[in-house]
Amino acid sequence: MTNRVRKAVFPVAGLGTRLLPATKTMPKEMLTIVDRPLIQYAVDEARAAGIEQMIFVTGRGKSTLVDYFDTAFELEATLRDKGKSLDALAPSRAQIGEIVTVRQQQPLGLGHAVWCAREIVGDEPFAVILPDDLMVPGALKPMVEAWEQLGGNLVATEEVPADKTGSYGIITPGGTSGAVTEVRGLVEKPAPNEAPSRLGVIGRYILQPQVFAILDRGETGAGGEIQLTDAMARLIGEQPFHALKVDSVRHDCGDKAGFVIANLALALKHEDIGEKVRDALSRL
Ligand code: G1P
Repeated sequence: MTNRVRKAVFPVAGLGTRLLPATKTMPKEMLTIVDRPLIQYAVDEARAAGIEQMIFVTGRGKSTLVDYFDTAFELEATLRDKGKSLDALAPSRAQIGEIVTVRQQQPLGLGHAVWCAREIVGDEPFAVILPDDLMVPGALKPMVEAWEQLGGNLVATEEVPADKTGSYGIITPGGTSGAVTEVRGLVEKPAPNEAPSRLGVIGRYILQPQVFAILDRGETGAGGEIQLTDAMARLIGEQPFHALKVDSVRHDCGDKAGFVIANLALALKHEDIGEKVRDALSRL
C-alpha cells in the first residue's frame, strides 16, 4: 500500500438547492468565482497538493463539469486562427486520466457519494475535497504535509459559531499540539446543546481506505442519509485520527451570501480588477 496521497474524491452530484434558480440547469460547481468556476479552484488545490487523480462523483446534469476539463477543439482552433492566446485555457486542460468520473445514482448522502468512488480509490489513503468549501489559500497541501507525519486519518477543522453546530460534523477533541488536535469522537450536525465542542469539520479530509468497509453497511444517520462523519467515527480507536486547523479563509460557496462574499474577497485581491472593484464597492 502506498503511503502517498495520490487520489482525491470530489463529491459533485449535489443539486445545489440553496443556490436556486442559478443551479436549475447549471451545476453549482460551474458557477463562477471571479473568472473561473468553483471546481477549478478545487482541482488546482488538489494539484498543488500533489494529487494525481481526481475522482468526480457526479450525477445527472453534471456533464459540463467533465467537458470543462476536456480539450475544447473548436474554441482552441478558432483562437489559434485568430492569432489569440490560449493561455487562459491552460488550467482547464486536464491530462488524460487526471480526471475520472463515477455516478452517484441516488442522493443518499456524503458517505454514499464517497463510497461510490471505492473501486477507483482501491486500497490506498485518499483525500476528499468538498468544492463548496472554497479555501484561500488551498488547505490540502498543508494537510498532506501534516498527514505525512501523523498517518491515519486527518480532517480539516475550524471553530464554528456556537449556534451553527447543526450545520457541521463536530469533533470531540483530545489533546492538542499546535494546530493538530486528536479526534476522540465525531458527531454529524448536533444541536448546539448537544455539541461536544465548537470544532467543526470543514470540507477537506485524508482518509484510510478502511472507511469503505464501514460505508458498505449503508447505515443511515442524521437526516436519514449515509453520513461520512458516522463512518469516520468508527475508525477512531482503530487508527490514528487527527484534526488540523488550517491557515486558510473558508468561503461556503454553497450558500448565497457565502458565494457573493467569495466573489468579492477574491475580486478585491485580483491584480487586474481589484482596484476597480474596491472603488465600486466604496461608491455602493
Ligand atoms: C458536510 C458534512 C459535514 C461537514 C460539512 C463541511 O455537510 O456532512 O460533516 O462539516 O460538509 O462543509 P453538508 O455541508 O454537506 O451539509
